[in-house]
Order: sequence, then C-alpha cells, then structure tokens
Amino acid sequence: MARYAQIVGWGMCVPNQILTNDDLANMVDTSDDWIRTRTGIVERRIAAPKETTATMAIRAAQTALRVANANPAKLDLIIVATATPDYLFPATACLVQDALGATRAGAFDLSAGCTGFVYALAVGSQMIISGAYDQVLVIGAETLSRIINWTDRNTCVLFGDGAGAMLLQASDVPGGVLSAVLGADGSGGDLLMLPAGGSRHPASVETVAQGLHYIHMNGREIFRFATRVTAKAARQALAEANVNLEDIALFISHQANGRIIEAAAKSLKLPPEKVFVNLEHYGNTSSASVPIALCEAIEQGRVKRDDHLVMVGFGAGLTWAAVVIRWGVPLPVPRPPRWRVAWRLARYRWAAIRSYLRRLGWKILSAVIRLFVRDNGSD
Ligand code: UT7
Repeated sequence: MARYAQIVGWGMCVPNQILTNDDLANMVDTSDDWIRTRTGIVERRIAAPKETTATMAIRAAQTALRVANANPAKLDLIIVATATPDYLFPATACLVQDALGATRAGAFDLSAGCTGFVYALAVGSQMIISGAYDQVLVIGAETLSRIINWTDRNTCVLFGDGAGAMLLQASDVPGGVLSAVLGADGSGGDLLMLPAGGSRHPASVETVAQGLHYIHMNGREIFRFATRVTAKAARQALAEANVNLEDIALFISHQANGRIIEAAAKSLKLPPEKVFVNLEHYGNTSSASVPIALCEAIEQGRVKRDDHLVMVGFGAGLTWAAVVIRWGVPLPVPRPPRWRVAWRLARYRWAAIRSYLRRLGWKILSAVIRLFVRDNGSD
C-alpha cells in the first residue's frame, strides 16, 4: 500500500521581548522608514538570556505533539534545522530528544542556512514514504540575536529569534508532502557566512577581535540570488507534484524580505490572498521562518483540508528548496481534554527526572572508574 507523509501536528515559539525598528534606530544609523520600505520588517523577537535554540525548539515541539495528540516516546526521528545550535556538538536535536523523553528517536541537526527547515521536511517525509519510519518531528529553530553584530546596520535590522515544529506521520490517505526540490551552489558560500568558530578559523582572541563570530552578508547579492531561485524552485516542485499553479491555495516563502516575496509572487502570478507574509512581526528567523509562517497561516484559517501549499526556502550555502503539500488534516483541530494535557505535562516532568538520573548515573560511573584506576595505579 502507498505511504504518505502527512503533517499532523504543528507548533511555534517566539520570545516575548520585542525589538522595534525605532529601538534599532536608537542603536545604529537607521530608521523605521528605511527598514519598512526596504524589507517590510517592523519588529522582531529577541531571546531572553536563558532562552536558546533548544528551549524554543522544545516548546514548539511540545505544541506540535499536543496538536497531534502524539506520544513523544513513539517518535522515530527528530531533525532540528538550525544555523545557531546550542553547541557545535552535541546536536540541538539531542537536547530536544532528551527533554521530550523521545527515548526511541534518532536525532540530528541539519545545516542548510535559512533553507534548513524545507530541507528537513524533505528528508523527514522521505524517511516516512520509504517505510523506514512512521513519525518524524521536523523543527526549524534559531537564536540569531546571539550572532548578530549589533553595530552593523546592514545585518542587525534583518534578523529575529524563534522556532517552529511540524510532526510528520505515515498515512495511507493520499496527500501530505507531494514533492521536494533541493538545490545548492557552494560557489556563493562566502556571500552569507559565519566565518569563525569552525575548524578553518577556530575561536581565538583574534577571531573575536575581528568580529568573525558575527553574520557576514552581501545583502545585495543574496537578494539577487533569492529573487532568481524562489519562483523557479516553486515551479519545479509543482511540476514534480503534478500540481498546476492555479491550484495553489497558499504560497509560503522564507520570510527574509517583503520585496523578494513580492517578486516571486509576481513571477508566479499569484494574487496577494494566496501569499502568506508575517515578516513584519518577526523579521528573518532563518530556518524557523517557514514553520512559524505555516503555524500562523493555520491559526488565521488560511489553510483547509485538501489545499495545496508551496513552501520555499533560500539562504546560506547557497541553498534553496521547495516542497508542495496537500493538506490532509481537518481544521480546526479539537482541543484535547484537560486530563490529556496534564498527562502530557507529567510525561515531560518524568523526562526531566529521567534525564537527571541518567546524568547522575554517568557521573557515578566515571567516579567509580576513576577510583578503580587510581587504586590499580597505586598497586
Ligand atoms: O535569509 C537569507 C539571507 N538574507 C537575505 O535574504 C537578505 C537579502 N537582501 C536584502 O534583503 C537586501 O539586500 C537588504 C535589506 C539587506 C538591503 O536592501 P537593499 O535595497 O539591497 O540595500 P543596499 O544594500 O543596496 O543598500 C542601499 C543603501 C546603502 O547606502 P549607500 O551605499 O547607497 O549610500 C546602505 O549603506 O542603504 C544603506 N543601508 C542602510 N541604511 C539605513 C544598509 N542598511 C541600512 C539600514 N538603514 N539598516
């Protein structure tokens, strides 16, 4: 029997703190007018000191699992698309796996810049369609505020923090992720990069002094690249899915710049009501922007069962990707009974206790081994 990868759960998390264009105008030589007219951004969210990519990813994931009424212990795989992981390793996906108590799940991070979530959706859905897995949690999460140079007006006005999660589930109902197109052109890698902190330029006093741990971007070239690939990738994914442009209910692009989205919509001849834009509230949240946009589109009643959606990402790498989805879940989803919510919270508490006990176990084990080695050494 044919298998399909349906999106059955969704959730988002953004920090409470809002940074407006006017706030930025007090920090660098810019203005609300310049930012609005050149990008469409009005405000963005900034993580509190204790918030990280993992904490936002966990909250978005918990909402997605609640919407789907799914048990984290039954997840097969967790993919976190991010350019701002909590650590270079372990993977942020493993921090999410631990916090959710997803004891059966594999977990890895995926690095494809702002395209990461769309790449991850393609990977996760293929894992399901191939028959390898039944439930895959796909997350896009970023804390870009930690790698922004707050004195560089070329970049600091553009980005924001947040996370979005989608739960993919195997189904025999036709639909879900119908096609995916992935692209890359590494020759443009230095147009958008974080130069230091990797094996080429490990962190040092010099790299910090030279500001190499901040986002470096050639905005104009990225703009040109994005306007070139967005509509093209959407067309390719539609052709692969055998879906006509006229049958698209909603176009959800990476939310980097309103002018890029407008150019793509114009090229695809899509009317404004078929184009989703929310970047005025969040700025560019990189790999989190597409899942956050999808969550808000659902919330606003702009997605219905059997609708065809196109989602497109583009960004560092250079990378780009598009997926076509036929929505398979009736909306709105009924609220779960209170006891289920309480049961779920209890499970997360238990996951935290379990994690603590296991950490303690590792510590005791290594202390015992140290004692053993010392005693044997003194013989
Ligand atoms: O997620 C994927 C990664 N990023 C993107 O998708 C970003 C893609 N690029 C863009 O969105 C746009 O290129 C920007 C919004 C970054 C810049 O807009 P632009 O219309 O391409 O501006 P520009 O780079 O051509 O700069 C125009 C002028 C420059 O001044 P001069 O050289 O003409 O005197 C900039 O210095 O605007 C100046 N400028 C600013 N002025 C006020 C640049 N940033 C600012 C600013 N406030 N924040």
